[in-house]
Amino acid sequence: MKGSAFKFFPVTATFLISFSLLAESYDPLDPNGNITVKWDINSWTPEGYVAIVTIFNWQQYRHISSPGWILGWEWAKKEVIWNMVGAQATSQGDCSAYHSDPIPHCCAPNPSVVDLLPGVPYNQQVSNCCRGGVISSYAQDPETALSAFQITVGNAGTSNTTVALPVNFTLNTPGPGYSCGPATKVPPSQFHSTDNRRVTQAFMTWNITCTYLQNLAQRAPTCCVSFSTFYSPTITPCAECSCACASNSTLAALRGAAESTNSCIDPNTRYDELPAITTRGGSSASHPDLLYCTRDMCPVKIHWHIKTNYKEYWRVKVTITNRDFSRNFTQWTLTLQHPNFDNFTDAFSFNHRGLNPYGTFSNDTAVFWGVKYFNDILMQAGPSGNVQSELLFAKGKDFKFSHGWAFPHRVYFNGDDCVLPEPQNYPALPSNSPRVPSSFLSLVFIVIGLSLIEFVF
Ligand SMILES: *[C@@H]1O[C@H](CO)[C@@H](O)[C@H](O)[C@H]1NC(C)=O
Ligand SMILES: *[C@@H]1O[C@H](CO)[C@@H](O)[C@H](O)[C@H]1NC(C)=O
Ligand SMILES: *[C@@H]1O[C@H](CO)[C@@H](O)[C@H](O)[C@H]1NC(C)=O
Ligand SMILES: *[C@@H]1O[C@H](CO)[C@@H](O)[C@H](O)[C@H]1NC(C)=O
Ligand SMILES: *[C@@H]1O[C@H](CO)[C@@H](O)[C@H](O)[C@H]1NC(C)=O
Ligand SMILES: *[C@@H]1O[C@H](CO)[C@@H](O)[C@H](O)[C@H]1NC(C)=O
Ligand SMILES: *[C@@H]1O[C@H](CO)[C@@H](O)[C@H](O)[C@H]1NC(C)=O
Ligand SMILES: *[C@@H]1O[C@H](CO)[C@@H](O)[C@H](O)[C@H]1NC(C)=O
Repeated sequence: MKGSAFKFFPVTATFLISFSLLAESYDPLDPNGNITVKWDINSWTPEGYVAIVTIFNWQQYRHISSPGWILGWEWAKKEVIWNMVGAQATSQGDCSAYHSDPIPHCCAPNPSVVDLLPGVPYNQQVSNCCRGGVISSYAQDPETALSAFQITVGNAGTSNTTVALPVNFTLNTPGPGYSCGPATKVPPSQFHSTDNRRVTQAFMTWNITCTYLQNLAQRAPTCCVSFSTFYSPTITPCAECSCACASNSTLAALRGAAESTNSCIDPNTRYDELPAITTRGGSSASHPDLLYCTRDMCPVKIHWHIKTNYKEYWRVKVTITNRDFSRNFTQWTLTLQHPNFDNFTDAFSFNHRGLNPYGTFSNDTAVFWGVKYFNDILMQAGPSGNVQSELLFAKGKDFKFSHGWAFPHRVYFNGDDCVLPEPQNYPALPSNSPRVPSSFLSLVFIVIGLSLIEFVF
């Protein structure tokens, strides 16, 4: 809905967004999440320096997936890059002033650097390089939540007083989304030898902090949430227009009143009749190419089904459905905020980690991600385009099914905020039963029905 309102007032929207950037450069579920880029000069050359540049992802649940990061900056003087190991500049720029052999790797005043792909020869690697620009979220795997390369810079200063810090850093993934602050000189990094018996230190170090802003990444949300329960036949679908509004012809097709449109795939299409889908180019993180037709037009749907009520526990089934035919989500993350996560017991086929690393907010949030080789890739729309798990909670003292308490307060997919249904549409408790029975034979049919239809809707 946000997206559709802005569409008519592009100028106003731009203003609103630029103002809200200042206010929203902060994610309440991960207040200290950011990406830090650190430059460590480890040696001087006759006309410059050699530095290791490391990109650290401190964000708990936002990773950088393929095709990976692109780091850009502007040189403060007339610096050139003589050599890079573990990464490369995307364009060499104009090196015609150089008569040397070899010529520099990059003479552009504003280099853009990308990671190398896995499997490059050993002499072109440094540690933590060469993962095709993919960086895990910190909760998922701290060991791969960083990426590094070595850069040899010429025409630069050769002391900590003459080196000029690069300016105007950008971090793209490859779409926009991060806003980077200025480089600031910090105390030189210290490096401990593997046996921890010797410490060395960088000659000079500077840091850049980049923060993610969903508004900058895309105007419209990319995911929505739907609900159902064992105690009510109501299924609360994703709110209409959550990510975009379906066109009138799509709505007519969904009502069965017209032929399907060309802009999306009729959800009744049989899998063996699906058109051959070309993979997404990877150059744009903007709109997904081809979706199932829905009233919410979201590429990803999260379904929260309250499945079972035990004496001391309750159980939820969570399903993530990919309705985008042109995209596989590798290393996906799902972040859920619910007051009962302080008593969370288990997730059956997802990995998970509670979030409360800084003690600045209550213990009510958990990050989930797939089990390697089992469901860590959310496949493109179709028969394999979903992953699911059951979550078991011990009932805390506040536990209740009434007043929508048992539904999550926030849901993020890959770090983007998903649109929740309108509160008045939440499934209600049956009005004639003050207590919800623990098991309900007739409802078994609803559950079976659900597992058949929750695929698309
Ligand atoms: C960036 O993240 C680190 C680790 O969470 C945190 O210590 C630091 O304060 C953050 N920096 C900014 C500018 O938010
Ligand atoms: C610079 O960034 C690195 C990596 O995030 C961090 O460990 C270090 O504490 C930062 N230094 C300062 C002074 O912020
Ligand atoms: C430069 O390095 C010298 C010696 O390593 C140190 O004493 C000095 O404080 C540094 N200057 C700056 C501006 O960092
Ligand atoms: C950095 O970017 C700003 C705005 O895009 C521009 O005004 C400024 O000149 C740039 N700085 C340098 C050194 O190019
Ligand atoms: C879609 O239908 C509504 C009412 O049915 C109408 O007001 C609107 O103009 C239609 N939009 C387009 C683009 O046809
Ligand atoms: C998704 O992954 C599967 C299996 O690796 C592959 O066959 C398919 O082409 C991929 N789809 C896209 C859109 O990249
Ligand atoms: C927060 O959750 C962790 C487990 O995820 C638990 O060990 C800890 O006791 C909880 N803290 C509070 C204050 O509830
Ligand atoms: C967590 O569950 C236990 C029972 O399993 C209950 O005694 C306790 O009060 C609950 N914690 C909270 C914070 O509700």
